Amino acid sequence: MPPMRTFHLIQVSDTHLGREQSWFAPNFRAMARIVSALRPDLVVNTGDISFDGAERDDDLAFARGCHAELDVPFRAIPGNHDVGDNPWRDDGPETITEQRLERYRRHFGEDYWLHEAGRWVLLGLNVQLFGSGMAAEKDQWRFLASAASMTSGRPIALFVHKPLFHLHAGEADVNHRFVPPDHRRRLIELLGGANVRLVASGHVHQHRRHRVGDVDHCWAPSTAFVLPDRRQPRLGTKHVGYIDYTFDEDRVDIQVVEPEQLMNHNLDDFPDAHAI
Ligand SMILES: [Fe+2]
Ligand SMILES: [Fe+2]
Repeated sequence: MPPMRTFHLIQVSDTHLGREQSWFAPNFRAMARIVSALRPDLVVNTGDISFDGAERDDDLAFARGCHAELDVPFRAIPGNHDVGDNPWRDDGPETITEQRLERYRRHFGEDYWLHEAGRWVLLGLNVQLFGSGMAAEKDQWRFLASAASMTSGRPIALFVHKPLFHLHAGEADVNHRFVPPDHRRRLIELLGGANVRLVASGHVHQHRRHRVGDVDHCWAPSTAFVLPDRRQPRLGTKHVGYIDYTFDEDRVDIQVVEPEQLMNHNLDDFPDAHAI
């Protein structure tokens, strides 16, 4: 078999695009120009695509329009700002609903997907569904089980909005930052026999990279803004940017890029913006 042509992927995340709150659109336009110059095989946006698409249909419409500026294929998965959050506490913030999910799908299409990249299998998941009890949650588990069984040893890269955990898979606390523990466990069990090599996430607005076993966990920075330390602990590096991946046969090269064309916004500079 001829050697695999490398597959070049750019991950952007937490673009937080809104028509009224349009502060972060210039950074996305700068990102689109970078993509035009680099011509990757695929761009993946790992969620919080919109500023407040969970509440406003028009933010999703605006964000989708911004992505029309990309002149290469792109795929997206939703974040809590696009479809609502996992129901992780009773008095918690707005949660995912059928209406919100339907609205997201109308603008962005599939909220979970499989994309073949040479030998690699890229799986995008909507982790916001975890714990929702919605029919779509069951459908996604079925999709994942069949995807895992058809990969037969091929390397897998998972794309999710929230990181699976902070330091290790056994963490028990339930919070807004990571995939809920019960669902993390089920996900890891389901993929136990599969060759998962990369988990690429967003949500935290910090870049962090660590390896657990054979799996690289890569947290993408936001293209839009970072949060001040008094509002969010420092778990990685706080700087806007994107992640550049080159997939080759059985390995992936990962680079974080902090391009000077992107303004390194801090949420404190936007008093009218609510927290992530
Ligand atoms: Fe975000
Ligand atoms: Fe988020």
